[in-house]
Amino acid sequence: MVNVIFCGFGDGMDKRVIARNGDILLRVAESNGVKIPTECKDGMCGSCAVRLEDLSVTKQMDGTAEEYDVHGQSVYMEDKELDTLVGMAAITKKEAEVAQQFNRQTAVRLACQCVIKNDILVKPFE
Ligand code: FES
Repeated sequence: MVNVIFCGFGDGMDKRVIARNGDILLRVAESNGVKIPTECKDGMCGSCAVRLEDLSVTKQMDGTAEEYDVHGQSVYMEDKELDTLVGMAAITKKEAEVAQQFNRQTAVRLACQCVIKNDILVKPFE
């Protein structure tokens, strides 16, 4: 089980919910009354983009290094999602390459494609 914290989606939608490891973020949002805009639900349109913070990552005080705690898991992102995010300028091509190379998720994800692996904080992408 993992914690998913939604913040900034509107009145009454700031909440912490418990999800199963492997749940799709959009389904968790919808089943808990958090409204995330959608169109295709297939990773193509980008309308469900959200900012995501992996709470298993500890940032160092100088901001230069990151350390993953023992519960943090690698996260595989499909090419389709990365291409959509790059196409809408939500992430850079370099960020997409790093995500692929190191199996780490980017700071912006598509909720319809995001398989939850770790405790996360989710905010609107604006
Ligand atoms: S709803 Fe279109 S990319 Fe998620």
